[in-house]
Order: sequence, then C-alpha cells, then structure tokens
Amino acid sequence: MNVGIIGSGTMGSGIAQVAATSGCKVKLYDTNQNALDKSKNALEKVLNRLIEKGRIDENEKSRIQGNISYVNSLKDLNDSNLTIEAIIENLDVKQKVFADLETYVSDDCIIASNTSSLSIASIASSLQKPERCVGIHFFNPAPLMKLVEVIPAIQTSKEVLDASVETITSWKKVVAVAKDTPGFIVNRVARPFYGESLRVYEEGIADFATIDWSLKTLGKFRMGPFELMDFIGNDVNYTVTETVFTAFYFDPRYKPAFTQKRFAEAGYLGRKSGKGYYEYQNGMSSAEFISASAIKDDELAQRIFDRVLVMLINEAADALFLNIASAEDIDNAMTKGVNYPKGLLAWADEKGIDWCVNQLDALYDEYHEDRYRCSPLLRKMNREGKTFFC
Ligand code: NAI
Repeated sequence: MNVGIIGSGTMGSGIAQVAATSGCKVKLYDTNQNALDKSKNALEKVLNRLIEKGRIDENEKSRIQGNISYVNSLKDLNDSNLTIEAIIENLDVKQKVFADLETYVSDDCIIASNTSSLSIASIASSLQKPERCVGIHFFNPAPLMKLVEVIPAIQTSKEVLDASVETITSWKKVVAVAKDTPGFIVNRVARPFYGESLRVYEEGIADFATIDWSLKTLGKFRMGPFELMDFIGNDVNYTVTETVFTAFYFDPRYKPAFTQKRFAEAGYLGRKSGKGYYEYQNGMSSAEFISASAIKDDELAQRIFDRVLVMLINEAADALFLNIASAEDIDNAMTKGVNYPKGLLAWADEKGIDWCVNQLDALYDEYHEDRYRCSPLLRKMNREGKTFFC
C-alpha cells in the first residue's frame, strides 16, 4: 500500500514510522526542507535506540528506512492509496492543501486528517469528493501509543470508514470509532481530570502535590493531573480546554480554569520551560516532590479522588449517551490513548451506578452548578438497576 503523509513534524514523522514498519511504502512530504531532514535524522536515532534495546536488528532498520522517501512536492503523493495530513492546526491551510492534493491523487485515494480539534466535516468540505475524507487521529508519540481514533464526517462513505479501520488495525493499533464532535473521545472525556483537579485547587481544598498524590495513590493513575499538565505543557493543555469549551457552546462542564491560564501566561509551561506547577531545576523529580510534600490525609485524599473520578465517569457516560462511541471504544480510548489504569465505564460498574449518581447529586446539591449535572444515562441505568458491562 502507498501512503502519503503531509507534514513531517512530530506527528507526521511518527505516523510515517508506524506505516513503514507495517510494510507500507511511505512518502513523507513537507514544505520545509529542514523539517524533512530533521525527521529523517530523528528516525535514524529512534531506530538505533531500538537496536540497542534489542527490539530490532540492522536489517529491520534498513527495511523501515527503505520504506520511507522524503519529498518536497505535493504532486509526488499522486500514487497514494491513503494520505494522512499532519500539518499546522489551521482550517484554511488544511482546506487549501486538501483541495490541491485532490487534483493529484486517484479517485479512490482516501484523504485523512490527523487534526485534534477541527471538525472533519469542515475539512472534507474542501474536497470535490468529500465522501473520501475521514479523521485518523493518532496520539503522541504515534509509534508508542496504541490508540487511534477514526472519525467519519457526515460526508464520509461507509466504504472509506471500513477501509480506514481495516488499514489502521493492520498497523497493529487499537481503533476507536468516534463521532465528529469536539475532542472526539479522549480529548473530551479526559477534560475533568484536569478541570476538576484545578477546581479542587482553586477552592483551596488541597495543593497540587496533594491532589496528584490522591489520584496516583488511590486511582493508580501513572501521573497526577498537575504532573501531566506540566508534561503536556500548560499552553497546549489550556488551548485544548479553551477550544473544547468554545466548541461546546460554552457548556460550563468544560470551563477552563484561571489558574492554568495564568500559568500559561506567565510562561510556567511545565517541564519544557523548567517550571510549571512543579520546579524542574532543583534536582527533585515531580514524582519525588509529590511523595515528599503531599498532605497524606486518607480522608482528604479519598474525597479528592472520588470527586475527580466521578466527574470523569459522568463525562464517559454522557459520551455514550450521546452516541459519540460505543462503551468498549470509550473505555479502550482512555486505557490505550492516555494510559488510564481502567476504563471509566468499567470503573463505574465497579463503584456502582448508584454510587456515581449519589456522588454527582451531592456535588450538585452543594454547588447548584450545571457543571455537576448527572448524565441522564447514569440516572436511567440506576433506576433500572443496569450496569455497563457486567
Ligand atoms: P508540528 O508543528 O510538529 O509539524 C507540522 C509540520 O507541518 C511542520 O513540519 C511544518 O513544516 C509542516 N507544514 C506546515 N504547513 C504545511 C503545508 N502547507 N504543507 C506541508 N507541510 C506543512 O505539528 P504536530 O504536533 O505534528 O501536529 C500536526 C497535526 O497533528 C495538527 O493538526 C495537530 O493538531 C495534530 N495532532 C498533534 C498531536 C500532538 O501531540 N502534537 C497529537 C494528535 C494530533
């Protein structure tokens, strides 16, 4: 299969590696020659590291490298069966590239976008044959993260959706099919992990380290929310939150936090700037700092963990209620896309649907904010004594 990748930055390079490893002939295109050179060098380093770890040998390295060619004209992608675009997150620029690309490729070439925040319908509308357009959303780093969200636009044909799922599955990824709505699955369902933790902090209930410690200890999350925001970058994470909030017509459930906005404005971006919610220059890792300085009060930790968890469960249940994806795909998305220790719907079954409803109702009673409204699905399941999976 011939795969064209547009944009050789972080995501395009990773996707090219995945496709080439699976035996596809990849053409990686970028307008910037430096970006192409950088991508080529980065792949060399990644493959050398895999050799050092004994995961691949020299032959495999040559095979993967031999499957990728680096091109600087869009026209060179003319023999592609599938193209995946991973350029700058700007609708006008993407639409222009898609319209140009369509003049070069054959009628049955699938044209996909790796966009995180734009609607696939809006990107597809730039094509003469919009039914060939689909969202294929990888996670960073693409070679390591198992999940890929596949997003049909309202224009996408069933054949194109089925063929995309089949191809991505053959690349040894776990596919979750998601509706073309803001944040798809992961970037929607994960919002309360950050948002509710920031709210707990803003209310003065606990400091960053204590909140992180609560979620790591009781929830077995690999990183606490503040540690993770520092890892992602407060600028990037804040922008995603603000974009999702705007795209949901300002639903208060997705409201961004001033705390994070100020951190981003101050340049306290996290690991990449040396300072975020934690300091990264004092020799202590955030994980060490958290375990050393968190207030280890079991009752407080339980209260924080329960509150953040139930808000995550509510978001996952509402995504199912609104047919964003199947229950299996929602749980897979969170465990394979962002390494959650358990799927949120399975977690709801474990805690009990009545527990979820009671927790949410208690929060609503306390605050009278729409943010804490219980998903109608949880309420109905509770009335009918149902569970998600058992
Ligand atoms: P990046 O900034 O690392 O790479 C973008 C590349 O596109 C650059 O090399 C640039 O030279 C090239 N480019 C820009 N305009 C172009 C054009 N008109 N034609 C050809 N090449 C062009 O960006 P990154 O992070 O790889 O993101 C790319 C896309 O993937 C965006 O849509 C982003 O929303 C999405 N995405 C990003 C993730 C991430 O964690 N970075 C995760 C999932 C999706």
